[in-house]
Amino acid sequence: MRHLISPSDLSVDELDRILKLGQSIMKNPEKYSHICDGKKLATLFYEPSTRTRLSFEAAMLNLGGKVLGFSSADSSSAAKGESVADTIRIISSYADICAMRHPKEGAPAVAAMYSKIPVINAGDGGHNHPTQTLTDLITIKTLMGRLDNMTIGMCGDLKFGRTVHSLINTMVRYNNVRFILISPRELKIPDYLRQEVLEEGNIDYIETNELEKYMPELDILYMTRVQKERFFNEEDYIRLKDSFILDTTKMKYAKKDMYILHPLPRVNEIAAEIDSDPRAVYFKQAEYGVYVRMALILTLLNY
Ligand code: NCD
Repeated sequence: MRHLISPSDLSVDELDRILKLGQSIMKNPEKYSHICDGKKLATLFYEPSTRTRLSFEAAMLNLGGKVLGFSSADSSSAAKGESVADTIRIISSYADICAMRHPKEGAPAVAAMYSKIPVINAGDGGHNHPTQTLTDLITIKTLMGRLDNMTIGMCGDLKFGRTVHSLINTMVRYNNVRFILISPRELKIPDYLRQEVLEEGNIDYIETNELEKYMPELDILYMTRVQKERFFNEEDYIRLKDSFILDTTKMKYAKKDMYILHPLPRVNEIAAEIDSDPRAVYFKQAEYGVYVRMALILTLLNY
């Protein structure tokens, strides 16, 4: 039985297969609309979510399956003190596959140890978010036709942003990908990523707080929200939250064919005036997330 806890649980070949399957579902969704008849997906969300939970649910419904679950810790027995281990033991007999989001790093990995069904990490604290990475990859692959030979700028909260951590961890596995990591000093990527992934992997990267300076070099600009819920004090959040705001003035420095991605939700970091720029693909990205999650569910259920 397979789980998806960290992006490295999937080999590059498996990633390619999932992305191809996602693209073929995108072209012909009807063909897949009954494959999961009679199957159930449980969504166990201990933290807020719009896209991830609903796109997982839409994915299973599109495949002909059914969904059950909870959307906050308060509405589950976690509020009574139940452990993740006990919860998953029970859910294992109610569903065929589950997606879990939890504020504690490692919670989905613990669940996988006690689970009789595949567990998908739908975000664990400030750690990983592998299915957002699948969403990012299918977007890049579909729009640019490749996942190698590019310069990708990541901007915003690189410290707490789990989507950033998973995307870096994955993109380093493709050839000639260069990273420009743009953040305030306080929100730089965690040391383990810098040392164990970028340095040890001999990856070309720059850490900077200057978006405009590097903008002309970027093929992709991956904007992120400052992760309010992970801050220890509100003052720091308020001081840092508007460090980078992408607007039409800054976009003047960008390549004509650069794409702007964002895992969403957006708060202030992309001005609404950018939404009509053809390079802004974050809403399309959220749409692609359904197809790639359909492909992932099929893969983990061995179809
Ligand atoms: C992201 C997350 O939950 O980490 N959202 C998402 O799943 N699309 C990004 C964020 O919350 O900023």
